[in-house]
Amino acid sequence: MSIPSLLILPGDGIGPEVMAEVRKVISWLSTERSISFEVSEDSVGGAAYDTHGVPLHDDTMAKAQAVDAVLLGAVGGPKYDNLDFNIKPERGLLRLRKEMDLFANLRPAQCFDALADFSSLKHNVVSGLDIMIVRELTSGSYFGEPRGIFKENNERVGINTHRYTESEIERVARSGFELARKRDNRLCSMEKANVMEAGGLWREVVTEVHKAHFDDVELSHMYADNGAMQLVRAPKQFDVILTDNLFGDILSDCAAMLTGSLGMLPSASLGSPMENGRPKALYEPVHGSAPDIAGQGKANPSASILSFAMALRYSFDMGNEASRIESAVESVLADGVRTSDLLQAKGEKPVTTSEMGDAILEALTKSL
Ligand code: IPM
Ligand code: MG
Repeated sequence: MSIPSLLILPGDGIGPEVMAEVRKVISWLSTERSISFEVSEDSVGGAAYDTHGVPLHDDTMAKAQAVDAVLLGAVGGPKYDNLDFNIKPERGLLRLRKEMDLFANLRPAQCFDALADFSSLKHNVVSGLDIMIVRELTSGSYFGEPRGIFKENNERVGINTHRYTESEIERVARSGFELARKRDNRLCSMEKANVMEAGGLWREVVTEVHKAHFDDVELSHMYADNGAMQLVRAPKQFDVILTDNLFGDILSDCAAMLTGSLGMLPSASLGSPMENGRPKALYEPVHGSAPDIAGQGKANPSASILSFAMALRYSFDMGNEASRIESAVESVLADGVRTSDLLQAKGEKPVTTSEMGDAILEALTKSL
Protein backbone atom coordinates (compact mmCIF):
# COMPACT_ATOMS: atom_id res chain seq x y z
CA MET A 1 0.00 0.00 0.00
CA SER A 2 1.17 3.55 -0.69
CA ILE A 3 2.32 5.79 2.14
CA PRO A 4 -0.66 7.67 3.62
CA SER A 5 -0.70 11.33 2.68
CA LEU A 6 -1.33 14.40 4.80
CA LEU A 7 -1.85 18.00 3.74
CA ILE A 8 -0.96 20.51 6.45
CA LEU A 9 -2.69 23.87 6.23
CA PRO A 10 -1.29 25.92 9.14
CA GLY A 11 -3.38 29.01 8.34
CA ASP A 12 -3.26 32.15 10.45
CA GLY A 13 -2.41 33.43 13.91
CA ILE A 14 -1.18 30.66 16.18
CA GLY A 15 -1.90 28.08 13.45
CA PRO A 16 1.70 27.84 12.17
CA GLU A 17 3.13 27.56 15.72
CA VAL A 18 0.86 24.75 16.81
CA MET A 19 1.23 22.88 13.52
CA ALA A 20 5.02 22.96 13.95
CA GLU A 21 4.49 20.85 17.08
CA VAL A 22 2.25 18.44 15.17
CA ARG A 23 5.08 18.01 12.68
CA LYS A 24 7.35 16.97 15.55
CA VAL A 25 4.89 14.25 16.52
CA ILE A 26 4.69 13.10 12.89
CA SER A 27 8.50 12.83 12.77
CA TRP A 28 8.54 11.01 16.09
CA LEU A 29 6.12 8.41 14.72
CA SER A 30 8.36 7.91 11.74
CA THR A 31 11.60 7.47 13.68
CA GLU A 32 10.26 5.66 16.76
CA ARG A 33 7.30 3.73 15.38
CA SER A 34 8.19 3.33 11.70
CA ILE A 35 4.89 4.95 10.77
CA SER A 36 5.46 7.31 7.89
CA PHE A 37 3.32 9.88 6.14
CA GLU A 38 3.86 11.80 2.97
CA VAL A 39 3.43 15.37 4.20
CA SER A 40 2.76 18.41 2.06
CA GLU A 41 1.94 21.94 3.15
CA ASP A 42 -0.06 24.81 1.70
CA SER A 43 -1.84 27.98 2.77
CA VAL A 44 -5.42 28.70 3.80
CA GLY A 45 -7.32 31.67 5.22
CA GLY A 46 -5.61 35.02 5.55
CA ALA A 47 -2.27 33.44 4.65
CA ALA A 48 -3.71 32.29 1.33
CA TYR A 49 -5.34 35.67 0.78
CA ASP A 50 -1.96 37.38 1.28
CA THR A 51 -0.35 35.35 -1.50
CA HIS A 52 -3.25 34.51 -3.82
CA GLY A 53 -5.94 37.09 -3.07
CA VAL A 54 -8.37 34.31 -2.12
CA PRO A 55 -8.71 32.39 1.17
CA LEU A 56 -8.31 29.04 -0.59
CA HIS A 57 -6.60 28.60 -3.93
CA ASP A 58 -8.13 26.08 -6.38
CA ASP A 59 -4.84 24.15 -6.40
CA THR A 60 -5.01 23.83 -2.62
CA MET A 61 -8.62 22.65 -2.87
CA ALA A 62 -7.53 20.00 -5.38
CA LYS A 63 -4.70 18.86 -3.09
CA ALA A 64 -7.10 18.61 -0.16
CA GLN A 65 -9.38 16.39 -2.25
CA ALA A 66 -6.48 14.12 -3.17
CA VAL A 67 -4.85 13.44 0.22
CA ASP A 68 -5.90 10.95 2.87
CA ALA A 69 -6.33 13.63 5.52
CA VAL A 70 -6.03 17.39 5.92
CA LEU A 71 -4.61 18.87 9.13
CA LEU A 72 -5.64 22.48 9.60
CA GLY A 73 -4.35 25.04 12.13
CA ALA A 74 -6.69 28.01 12.32
CA VAL A 75 -7.97 30.83 10.12
CA GLY A 76 -8.77 34.50 10.59
CA GLY A 77 -7.47 37.64 12.24
CA PRO A 78 -8.23 41.33 12.66
CA LYS A 79 -6.13 42.18 9.60
CA TYR A 80 -8.83 40.61 7.45
CA ASP A 81 -11.91 41.95 9.24
CA ASN A 82 -12.74 44.48 6.55
CA LEU A 83 -12.39 42.14 3.59
CA ASP A 84 -15.36 41.46 1.41
CA PHE A 85 -17.49 38.66 2.90
CA ASN A 86 -16.66 36.19 0.12
CA ILE A 87 -12.91 36.41 0.56
CA LYS A 88 -12.76 36.42 4.34
CA PRO A 89 -10.40 33.77 5.80
CA GLU A 90 -13.35 31.78 7.20
CA ARG A 91 -14.64 31.23 3.66
CA GLY A 92 -11.55 29.13 2.94
CA LEU A 93 -12.42 26.74 5.74
CA LEU A 94 -16.10 26.66 4.78
CA ARG A 95 -15.17 25.85 1.17
CA LEU A 96 -13.03 22.93 2.32
CA ARG A 97 -15.87 21.59 4.46
CA LYS A 98 -18.44 22.00 1.70
CA GLU A 99 -16.47 20.73 -1.31
CA MET A 100 -15.01 17.79 0.58
CA ASP A 101 -18.55 17.16 1.84
CA LEU A 102 -17.39 16.76 5.43
CA PHE A 103 -20.84 16.37 6.89
CA ALA A 104 -20.00 14.87 10.29
CA ASN A 105 -18.04 17.07 12.67
CA LEU A 106 -16.89 15.23 15.78
CA ARG A 107 -16.11 17.48 18.72
CA PRO A 108 -15.20 15.59 21.86
CA ALA A 109 -15.37 17.55 25.11
CA GLN A 110 -13.32 15.70 27.62
CA CYS A 111 -12.25 17.06 30.96
CA PHE A 112 -8.71 16.04 31.82
CA ASP A 113 -8.42 15.28 35.54
CA ALA A 114 -5.54 17.65 36.00
CA LEU A 115 -7.65 20.47 34.58
CA ALA A 116 -10.97 19.96 36.34
CA ASP A 117 -10.32 23.03 38.49
CA PHE A 118 -9.84 25.21 35.42
CA SER A 119 -13.47 24.94 34.43
CA SER A 120 -15.77 27.78 35.36
CA LEU A 121 -18.09 25.08 36.71
CA LYS A 122 -17.63 23.23 39.98
CA HIS A 123 -15.13 20.38 40.03
CA ASN A 124 -17.72 17.66 40.67
CA VAL A 125 -19.90 18.88 37.78
CA VAL A 126 -17.12 18.43 35.21
CA SER A 127 -14.58 15.93 36.54
CA GLY A 128 -14.61 12.82 34.39
CA LEU A 129 -16.70 14.57 31.72
CA ASP A 130 -16.50 12.82 28.36
CA ILE A 131 -19.05 13.83 25.76
CA MET A 132 -18.98 13.83 21.99
CA ILE A 133 -20.81 16.43 19.96
CA VAL A 134 -21.64 15.37 16.42
CA ARG A 135 -22.37 18.53 14.47
CA GLU A 136 -23.75 18.48 10.93
CA LEU A 137 -21.24 20.56 8.99
CA THR A 138 -22.23 21.04 5.36
CA SER A 139 -25.80 22.28 5.41
CA GLY A 140 -28.34 24.21 7.49
CA SER A 141 -28.15 27.96 7.98
CA TYR A 142 -24.48 28.08 7.00
CA PHE A 143 -25.17 27.11 3.39
CA GLY A 144 -28.93 27.28 2.73
CA GLU A 145 -30.24 29.32 -0.21
CA PRO A 146 -31.51 31.97 -0.60
CA ARG A 147 -28.91 33.92 1.29
CA GLY A 148 -27.65 37.45 1.06
CA ILE A 149 -28.49 41.05 1.81
CA PHE A 150 -31.33 42.35 -0.33
CA LYS A 151 -33.29 45.56 -0.74
CA GLU A 152 -36.95 45.32 0.15
CA ASN A 153 -39.37 48.26 0.61
CA ASN A 154 -36.49 50.69 0.80
CA GLU A 155 -34.60 48.88 3.49
CA ARG A 156 -32.07 46.08 3.56
CA VAL A 157 -32.95 42.54 4.63
CA GLY A 158 -30.38 39.95 5.61
CA ILE A 159 -31.44 36.44 4.69
CA ASN A 160 -30.07 33.00 5.55
CA THR A 161 -32.00 29.84 5.08
CA HIS A 162 -32.15 26.99 7.55
CA ARG A 163 -32.62 24.07 5.20
CA TYR A 164 -32.16 20.33 5.70
CA THR A 165 -33.02 17.45 3.40
CA GLU A 166 -33.93 14.04 4.77
CA SER A 167 -30.79 12.47 3.38
CA GLU A 168 -28.59 15.12 4.99
CA ILE A 169 -30.17 14.42 8.36
CA GLU A 170 -30.04 10.69 7.84
CA ARG A 171 -26.35 10.42 7.06
CA VAL A 172 -25.20 12.49 10.02
CA ALA A 173 -27.63 10.66 12.30
CA ARG A 174 -26.03 7.38 11.21
CA SER A 175 -22.58 8.76 12.08
CA GLY A 176 -23.88 9.78 15.49
CA PHE A 177 -25.47 6.43 16.27
CA GLU A 178 -22.41 4.51 15.08
CA LEU A 179 -20.21 6.56 17.37
CA ALA A 180 -22.60 6.10 20.28
CA ARG A 181 -22.27 2.34 19.85
CA LYS A 182 -18.52 2.62 20.40
CA ARG A 183 -19.04 4.74 23.49
CA ASP A 184 -21.78 4.64 26.14
CA ASN A 185 -24.50 3.79 23.60
CA ARG A 186 -26.58 6.90 24.24
CA LEU A 187 -27.47 9.69 21.85
CA CYS A 188 -29.35 12.93 22.51
CA SER A 189 -30.53 14.80 19.42
CA MET A 190 -30.98 18.58 19.73
CA GLU A 191 -33.05 20.91 17.53
CA LYS A 192 -35.94 23.35 17.84
CA ALA A 193 -38.78 21.13 16.70
CA ASN A 194 -41.15 23.34 18.68
CA VAL A 195 -40.61 26.37 16.43
CA MET A 196 -38.87 25.22 13.23
CA GLU A 197 -40.17 22.90 10.51
CA ALA A 198 -36.61 21.86 9.72
CA GLY A 199 -36.26 20.98 13.41
CA GLY A 200 -39.45 18.91 13.27
CA LEU A 201 -38.16 17.03 10.25
CA TRP A 202 -34.82 16.54 11.98
CA ARG A 203 -36.55 14.88 14.94
CA GLU A 204 -38.67 12.67 12.68
CA VAL A 205 -35.76 11.47 10.55
CA VAL A 206 -33.52 10.79 13.56
CA THR A 207 -36.34 8.76 15.09
CA GLU A 208 -36.81 6.78 11.85
CA VAL A 209 -33.08 6.05 11.46
CA HIS A 210 -33.02 4.93 15.07
CA LYS A 211 -36.00 2.63 14.67
CA ALA A 212 -34.75 1.10 11.44
CA HIS A 213 -31.07 0.57 12.24
CA PHE A 214 -30.00 1.55 15.75
CA ASP A 215 -32.72 0.65 18.22
CA ASP A 216 -30.07 -0.81 20.53
CA VAL A 217 -28.84 2.77 21.16
CA GLU A 218 -30.66 4.82 23.80
CA LEU A 219 -32.15 7.84 21.99
CA SER A 220 -33.48 11.04 23.52
CA HIS A 221 -34.49 14.41 22.05
CA MET A 222 -34.06 17.86 23.52
CA TYR A 223 -34.79 21.37 22.35
CA ALA A 224 -31.46 23.03 21.71
CA ASP A 225 -32.06 25.86 24.19
CA ASN A 226 -32.75 23.36 26.94
CA GLY A 227 -29.70 21.45 25.72
CA ALA A 228 -27.53 24.52 26.32
CA MET A 229 -28.92 24.84 29.81
CA GLN A 230 -28.46 21.12 30.56
CA LEU A 231 -24.88 21.27 29.31
CA VAL A 232 -24.08 23.84 31.96
CA ARG A 233 -26.30 22.32 34.66
CA ALA A 234 -25.36 18.66 34.44
CA PRO A 235 -23.13 17.91 31.44
CA LYS A 236 -22.30 14.36 32.49
CA GLN A 237 -25.86 13.26 31.62
CA PHE A 238 -24.77 13.24 27.95
CA ASP A 239 -22.82 10.75 25.87
CA VAL A 240 -23.24 11.68 22.17
CA ILE A 241 -25.06 14.89 21.26
CA LEU A 242 -26.29 15.06 17.66
CA THR A 243 -27.18 18.46 16.30
CA ASP A 244 -27.24 20.71 13.25
CA ASN A 245 -24.63 23.11 11.91
CA LEU A 246 -25.60 26.32 13.69
CA PHE A 247 -26.73 24.84 17.01
CA GLY A 248 -23.64 22.64 16.90
CA ASP A 249 -21.40 25.66 16.50
CA ILE A 250 -22.86 27.21 19.64
CA LEU A 251 -23.28 24.07 21.75
CA SER A 252 -19.76 22.88 21.00
CA ASP A 253 -18.24 26.15 22.21
CA CYS A 254 -20.32 25.82 25.33
CA ALA A 255 -19.21 22.20 25.84
CA ALA A 256 -15.62 23.18 25.16
CA MET A 257 -15.56 25.68 27.97
CA LEU A 258 -16.86 23.08 30.44
CA THR A 259 -13.53 21.35 30.13
CA GLY A 260 -11.51 24.36 31.26
CA SER A 261 -9.53 25.17 28.17
CA LEU A 262 -10.24 25.60 24.53
CA GLY A 263 -6.54 24.95 24.03
CA MET A 264 -7.08 21.25 24.66
CA LEU A 265 -9.90 20.34 22.30
CA PRO A 266 -9.52 18.56 18.97
CA SER A 267 -12.03 17.92 16.22
CA ALA A 268 -12.53 15.71 13.21
CA SER A 269 -14.66 16.51 10.17
CA LEU A 270 -15.54 13.41 8.22
CA GLY A 271 -17.22 12.74 4.90
CA SER A 272 -18.05 9.66 2.87
CA PRO A 273 -15.48 6.92 2.29
CA MET A 274 -13.04 7.43 -0.61
CA GLU A 275 -11.97 4.67 -2.99
CA ASN A 276 -9.36 3.45 -0.51
CA GLY A 277 -12.06 3.09 2.15
CA ARG A 278 -10.84 6.02 4.22
CA PRO A 279 -13.33 8.81 4.89
CA LYS A 280 -12.68 12.23 3.40
CA ALA A 281 -11.30 13.98 6.45
CA LEU A 282 -10.09 17.23 7.93
CA TYR A 283 -8.76 17.56 11.47
CA GLU A 284 -8.48 20.84 13.30
CA PRO A 285 -8.34 22.20 16.85
CA VAL A 286 -11.59 23.72 18.12
CA HIS A 287 -9.78 26.93 19.10
CA GLY A 288 -9.35 29.81 16.69
CA SER A 289 -6.32 31.70 15.43
CA ALA A 290 -5.90 33.70 18.68
CA PRO A 291 -4.23 36.68 16.97
CA ASP A 292 -3.60 38.37 20.33
CA ILE A 293 -1.02 35.76 21.31
CA ALA A 294 0.24 34.76 17.85
CA GLY A 295 3.98 34.50 17.33
CA GLN A 296 4.80 34.66 21.03
CA GLY A 297 5.19 30.99 21.86
CA LYS A 298 2.18 31.17 24.17
CA ALA A 299 -0.22 28.90 22.29
CA ASN A 300 -1.08 25.45 23.55
CA PRO A 301 -0.33 22.88 20.82
CA SER A 302 -2.31 20.13 22.60
CA ALA A 303 -5.55 20.61 20.66
CA SER A 304 -3.72 20.28 17.34
CA ILE A 305 -1.71 17.30 18.52
CA LEU A 306 -4.90 15.65 19.79
CA SER A 307 -6.54 16.41 16.42
CA PHE A 308 -3.70 14.52 14.76
CA ALA A 309 -4.43 11.67 17.19
CA MET A 310 -8.01 11.70 15.92
CA ALA A 311 -6.62 11.46 12.37
CA LEU A 312 -4.70 8.34 13.38
CA ARG A 313 -7.87 6.85 14.84
CA TYR A 314 -10.48 7.80 12.23
CA SER A 315 -8.48 7.95 9.00
CA PHE A 316 -5.70 5.44 9.53
CA ASP A 317 -7.19 2.88 11.89
CA MET A 318 -4.35 3.40 14.35
CA GLY A 319 -6.39 3.66 17.52
CA ASN A 320 -3.48 2.38 19.62
CA GLU A 321 -1.15 5.11 18.44
CA ALA A 322 -3.93 7.66 18.95
CA SER A 323 -4.39 6.48 22.54
CA ARG A 324 -0.63 6.65 23.07
CA ILE A 325 -0.66 10.34 22.08
CA GLU A 326 -3.72 11.07 24.21
CA SER A 327 -2.10 9.44 27.22
CA ALA A 328 1.11 11.38 26.62
CA VAL A 329 -0.80 14.68 26.64
CA GLU A 330 -2.63 13.62 29.78
CA SER A 331 0.57 12.64 31.59
CA VAL A 332 2.23 15.94 30.70
CA LEU A 333 -0.73 17.76 32.23
CA ALA A 334 -0.61 15.52 35.29
CA ASP A 335 3.07 16.47 35.68
CA GLY A 336 1.98 20.10 35.94
CA VAL A 337 3.43 21.25 32.62
CA ARG A 338 1.33 24.25 31.58
CA THR A 339 1.17 26.60 28.65
CA SER A 340 -0.02 30.08 29.55
CA ASP A 341 -3.68 29.36 28.75
CA LEU A 342 -3.66 26.86 31.61
CA LEU A 343 -2.07 28.93 34.36
CA GLN A 344 -4.06 29.68 37.45
CA ALA A 345 -1.79 30.71 40.29
CA LYS A 346 0.19 33.92 39.91
CA GLY A 347 3.92 33.36 39.72
CA GLU A 348 3.65 29.99 37.95
CA LYS A 349 5.91 29.90 34.94
CA PRO A 350 4.37 28.73 31.69
CA VAL A 351 6.23 26.64 29.16
CA THR A 352 6.34 27.79 25.54
CA THR A 353 4.46 26.18 22.67
CA SER A 354 7.58 24.37 21.60
CA GLU A 355 8.47 23.24 25.15
CA MET A 356 4.95 21.81 25.49
CA GLY A 357 5.50 19.91 22.24
CA ASP A 358 8.83 18.62 23.54
CA ALA A 359 7.27 17.51 26.82
CA ILE A 360 4.65 15.55 24.88
CA LEU A 361 7.39 13.92 22.77
CA GLU A 362 9.27 13.00 25.92
CA ALA A 363 6.15 11.38 27.36
CA LEU A 364 5.65 9.55 24.08
CA THR A 365 9.18 8.18 24.22
CA LYS A 366 8.65 7.11 27.83
CA SER A 367 5.58 5.17 26.73
CA LEU A 368 7.63 2.85 24.52
C1 IPM B 1 -16.03 26.60 14.17
C2 IPM B 1 -15.85 28.05 13.80
C3 IPM B 1 -16.25 28.22 12.34
C4 IPM B 1 -17.74 27.96 12.26
C5 IPM B 1 -15.85 29.54 11.69
C6 IPM B 1 -14.38 29.84 11.83
C7 IPM B 1 -16.25 29.57 10.25
O1 IPM B 1 -16.55 28.86 14.67
O2 IPM B 1 -15.41 25.75 13.53
O3 IPM B 1 -16.78 26.32 15.10
O4 IPM B 1 -18.56 28.88 12.49
O5 IPM B 1 -18.10 26.82 11.95
MG1 MG C 1 -17.46 27.82 16.29
